[in-house]
Amino acid sequence: MKKHLVIGAAGQLGVELVLAMQAKHRPENVIVADIRTPEDEGVLRSPFVHLDATDRDAMRAVFQSDTYATVYHLAAMLSAVGEKRPLAAWDLNMTSLLNVLECAREGLVERVFWPSSIAVFGPATPKHDVPQDAPLDPTTVYGISKVAGEGWCRYYHAQYGVDVRSLRYPGLLGHRSLPGGGTTDYAVDIFVSAARGETYSCFLSEDTPLPMMYIEDAVRATLELMDAPSESVAIRTAYNLAAMSFTPEELADAIRQREPDFAIAYAPDSRQAIADSWPASIDDSAARRDWGWKHEVDVEGLVEVMLAAWKQRLAPSHATKAQ
Ligand code: SER
Repeated sequence: MKKHLVIGAAGQLGVELVLAMQAKHRPENVIVADIRTPEDEGVLRSPFVHLDATDRDAMRAVFQSDTYATVYHLAAMLSAVGEKRPLAAWDLNMTSLLNVLECAREGLVERVFWPSSIAVFGPATPKHDVPQDAPLDPTTVYGISKVAGEGWCRYYHAQYGVDVRSLRYPGLLGHRSLPGGGTTDYAVDIFVSAARGETYSCFLSEDTPLPMMYIEDAVRATLELMDAPSESVAIRTAYNLAAMSFTPEELADAIRQREPDFAIAYAPDSRQAIADSWPASIDDSAARRDWGWKHEVDVEGLVEVMLAAWKQRLAPSHATKAQ
């Protein structure tokens, strides 16, 4: 039985992706790798390998220890924290991707997934319904690393036949795991405050629209893209991907439909400039056409599931697990 490797398995997306892959392939066939040990008990049903993804020899040794059908390389430094440590962000994001692509070129894995982001866009990008081939002029190191990474993916596919696939994720919102260091993180934090009955202090202004997606939709998109026949995957940089867009105030209003006392205050910080450089909405018709992408969860569905799940997670019997 060929194995599936998830690098960055302790992160926000890694946790959710591993759980979905365990259901699909059985836990013992999903190998989880990270520089830190995942805290999620479900994730740890799979074998864990400690891995610094910038160490190519260590990564090659992981690939050589078994036979791998796919790798999902999710380790990265996100937009906000990347601005605090630009060279470290560049090093982690680029070196680790090139290590994975080199291992794939050497034939150590059949198919690669690597995430891109709405952070590839910038001030020259149209604000609404950004087309697939919009200009890419990111203002953050994270965005620059994603544009460069998209180019490397296309290069390895064209030059070496590496079957690498990618999505430009919007902000991802879930409840099994917390995001870390991103600009869209507010849209998870807001639910933690709402579930606790606390006022949320938002680091973006009330009228900042951003594209967002429920994380289970993002996981499904990822697995559907990876299952698509190679000839359907026409875009080898990264596909635009969309579900919904809202501002902090629109999200707060939707939360108030269920929690009328929910209160929010606004204290924009340096992340505001990053959000202002990103689009409000994305045209993902290429993904819908090429491999049948269709989102399932809209704002109302998101608020319903997020509020219920965070309330349950923060209930006294679960409280020690939520940080
Ligand atoms: N969610 C990411 C961030 O905010 C964007 O891909 O950095």
